[in-house]
Amino acid sequence: MQKTDFLVIGSGIAGLTYALKMANRFPDKKILVMTKATADETNTKYAQGGIAVVNDPEHDSFEKHIEDTLVAGDGLCNREIVEIVVKEGPERVKEIIDWGARFDKEEDGDYKRGKEGGHSEFRILHHKDVTGKEMERALLDAVAKQKNIEFVKHCFVVDILTQHHLGYLVSKATPDVECYGVYVLNLETNKIEKILSKITLLATGGNGQVYRTTTNPSIATGDGIAMTYRAKGRIENMEFIQFHPTALYEAGVTGQAFLITEAVRGDGGILRNKHGEAFMERYDERKDLAPRDIVARAIDSEMKKTGTEHVWLDCRHFGKEKFTEHFPNIYEKCLSIGIDITKSMIPVAPAAHYSCGGIKTDEWGRSSIRNLYACGECASTGLHGANRLASNSLLEAMVFAHRCFADAAEKIAAVSFRENIPDWNAQGTSEPKEMILITQSLKELQLVMSDYVGIVRNDIRLQRAMRRLDLLWAETEELYKSSAVSPQLLELRSMITVGYLIVKGAGFRKESRGLHYNTDYPGKSHLVQNIVL
Ligand code: FAD
Ligand code: SIN
Repeated sequence: MQKTDFLVIGSGIAGLTYALKMANRFPDKKILVMTKATADETNTKYAQGGIAVVNDPEHDSFEKHIEDTLVAGDGLCNREIVEIVVKEGPERVKEIIDWGARFDKEEDGDYKRGKEGGHSEFRILHHKDVTGKEMERALLDAVAKQKNIEFVKHCFVVDILTQHHLGYLVSKATPDVECYGVYVLNLETNKIEKILSKITLLATGGNGQVYRTTTNPSIATGDGIAMTYRAKGRIENMEFIQFHPTALYEAGVTGQAFLITEAVRGDGGILRNKHGEAFMERYDERKDLAPRDIVARAIDSEMKKTGTEHVWLDCRHFGKEKFTEHFPNIYEKCLSIGIDITKSMIPVAPAAHYSCGGIKTDEWGRSSIRNLYACGECASTGLHGANRLASNSLLEAMVFAHRCFADAAEKIAAVSFRENIPDWNAQGTSEPKEMILITQSLKELQLVMSDYVGIVRNDIRLQRAMRRLDLLWAETEELYKSSAVSPQLLELRSMITVGYLIVKGAGFRKESRGLHYNTDYPGKSHLVQNIVL
């Protein structure tokens, strides 16, 4: 059993930013950071386009960034939160630059600023087309220098400890559910350990793996959202899954798809259909730079009309020098599969990319469970509403990591450990006899979610999806009760829960808004509401 003042679950931009701030503020306290994978295997590492921030007062303003975010969010953003993120953003970006992150600059020393869908100005700071990798590197380097941060890899957090583990009945109606720490599966010893913490931060990232094709790496299985739901915390707006319009299409490849950043369209890339037609002008006056929900639906519609698995992204007019200056990584990736972007168009198709909903938090990142905070992609702060504006998530993660830190730092003195939590009980379980029961269920889940709960939905598809998920859930719970836990089983469990929350939210939303498009209700309802589960 371990004890720590501050427990941080997740080593992406959200978790590391918070840990660094806490470590600086409390040099005598221990900050324990845990990740289930290697240190940098995170959604953060794969971010390409950059971080949206107002830092060009001559052309840009807070008001413009706020307005762009609200327009993308389609009526569901919390204006107060949008203002907080946009206005506090520049200070947070300055901090990560001070920690060593490098963003591309012009020859005169000013920052280069990119543009992406839904932005009215060029405001996206970036490091070539590997911005996330650079930010993650800088954060990990800074963390390594902090003596009071203990960084533990390959530890899979299984469940949040609450009064439930003391034998009390905890339900959604229980007023003061409290978090006392976590159970964690140490993947090196294969044992479940108990960690007691005064304050816990969930920074567990997204859940793109619930779908068959996603830009997210394999860690993105929604564990933090699922464990909060199991612990009776509030989860919000899960139906708003953002599909990125332009993942690289490679025949037969499922799982993580390589992203072709929206910044390519920001620099002049043009989407074309099977017949070579630049079709976006038929869908939106902003053409290729319309918000993502509109572009992804337009591509989906073109693919269905022309019977193809992808559309094309035309960058032939860029020339090698211009393209490789901003997008060297994409150039190399395309070349490695035989596509010279100066001569051929890039085949692209939408893929699950970002979870706009998640663990419901307030303006200080507090979840509905006491002493449990959440920030980054696993949280639902109110910033994104029904559709996230491109490159707003890295910014949100940093702003809310700071806010969680500020609130938790004030609170810590009043929190004590809860000592009498029992150890994990593995009695009656044995090693699973065959992994196929897990791997096949995962495939079924991903098919159901992709085919019935994708970019375009309707009531019959959602009802069918729920029936399939019910069965998968019942079978997986049987397995969970009788088997020794493994990361594969735990992730399957998380993903079925997340799938259920997405379908449930989608079923409740009797309208089409932002990323949720239901052909049975093509218009917007007058009732503007968040769906909290
Ligand atoms: P992550 O960076 O995903 O980190 C999650 C961490 O939690 C990982 O360390 C993981 O191992 C750990 N974890 C999860 N579950 C458990 C568990 N059970 N136990 C222990 N550890 C666990 N956003 C932008 O703003 N701009 C962009 O240009 C951009 N481009 C993107 C490109 C791609 C390909 C992708 C996938 C996303 C992109 N995004 C972008 C979104 C953005 O990168 C993410 O939303 C953000 O990085 C999430 O950060 P995070 O810290 O919340 O989570
Ligand atoms: C991209 O680079 O297109 C992704 C940006 C984002 O998801 O915010």
